Amino acid sequence: MDLSFIMTNKSNLSPSSRLQALLSATLTTPLRSSSGDILTNRSQMAKDPVRVLVTGAAGQIGYALVPMIARGIMLGADQPVILHMLDIPPAAEALNGVKMELIDAAFPLLKGVVATTDAVEGCTGVNVAVMVGGFPRKEGMERKDVMSKNVSIYKSQAAALEKHAAPNCKVLVVANPANTNALILKEFAPSIPEKNITCLTRLDHNRALGQVSERLNVPVSDVKNVIIWGNHSSSQYPDVNHASVKTSSGEKPVRELVKDDEWLNGEFITTVQQRGAAIIKARKLSSALSAASSACDHIRDWVLGTPEGTFVSMGVYSDGSYNVPSGLIYSFPVTCRNGEWSIVQGLPIDEVSRKKMDLTAEELKEEKDLAYSCLS
Ligand code: NAD
Ligand code: LMR
Repeated sequence: MDLSFIMTNKSNLSPSSRLQALLSATLTTPLRSSSGDILTNRSQMAKDPVRVLVTGAAGQIGYALVPMIARGIMLGADQPVILHMLDIPPAAEALNGVKMELIDAAFPLLKGVVATTDAVEGCTGVNVAVMVGGFPRKEGMERKDVMSKNVSIYKSQAAALEKHAAPNCKVLVVANPANTNALILKEFAPSIPEKNITCLTRLDHNRALGQVSERLNVPVSDVKNVIIWGNHSSSQYPDVNHASVKTSSGEKPVRELVKDDEWLNGEFITTVQQRGAAIIKARKLSSALSAASSACDHIRDWVLGTPEGTFVSMGVYSDGSYNVPSGLIYSFPVTCRNGEWSIVQGLPIDEVSRKKMDLTAEELKEEKDLAYSCLS
């Protein structure tokens, strides 16, 4: 992330390492601000702001997400931010309403708000881009049903980001079909490093943690290392084979504690795969609170790092790891350090998992072909 324009301290570190160092430094010496937020050192309010773009900011995920960013949940409780909110002209008035509310909330970390329907203005100088804008799935639709509407948006926004975002901008695509929108964005923004373009499967990851925690009646924070493989769709493979739970006698495998492979191989998987549809059925709207919170988790771990011994799921450009075809944005287990993600290597994959991982890769290949046919 090029933060040279916002960093005041000179050091031998690269810009991303400086942000990393600054953000990591917040994890010591807790203090509280006048608003009650936990602060971590006395100079924190002197930091220069990071520019964060949220597209589709007038929508329901946007409405849940922007206050989380302004409160420091995404980048840290001492990291000032300037929010760039982009939407389309029919949503301009609603977008202005969100801007008014952000001002009224008097967030101490919020140093500015750009609310615009102009993609160039929205993308200019942004360090982090959270791409939520698009047409959401309605009851009875599969995520790929929103393909034609959304891939053309991602093609044109790729160009705006490529030309106007800060060098090394980190991109998270949330809008569905998330993996394929991210792939289109990557293909049409060739100068953005492919490692910087990701999609959200952290919501599915968190859903899997939540299901295990409910089943075992343990705090969700004691469960770790579930994996979401593949597509953010009903073909995704939620895998607990490497997951564990903290107990009074050390970490134990999830399978050993649950003692019900039939549930883990059946209902657990389908519940996570179908959770988005279940939320849409219940709310008549797609998940917003959990999507916004998971988007913050994704960026926070990417920038600040994953805890030692913990991996998380991110949709990233496949390099062929685990024999997943390259050229797809596929969800893998990753760890993050110094602002970079790496795929966790060497996990044993059994035959059942292999089939499920291949099936979701197949769907992504079909989506990719469909996306290109929509664009041509
Ligand atoms: P929403 O309809 O409430 O909001 C979408 C917003 O995007 C609207 O304000 C709309 O005006 C705006 N928009 C449309 N075209 C745009 C464009 N070209 N540029 C900028 N903004 C544009 O929908 P939502 O519930 O907030 O969901 C947003 C997207 O996120 C949907 O595609 C949904 O399916 C997806 N989603 C993904 C996940 C995930 O885990 N990856 C989870 C939940 C929802
Ligand atoms: C979700 O998983 O909640 C979102 O992708 C919304 C959807 O379309 O399912």
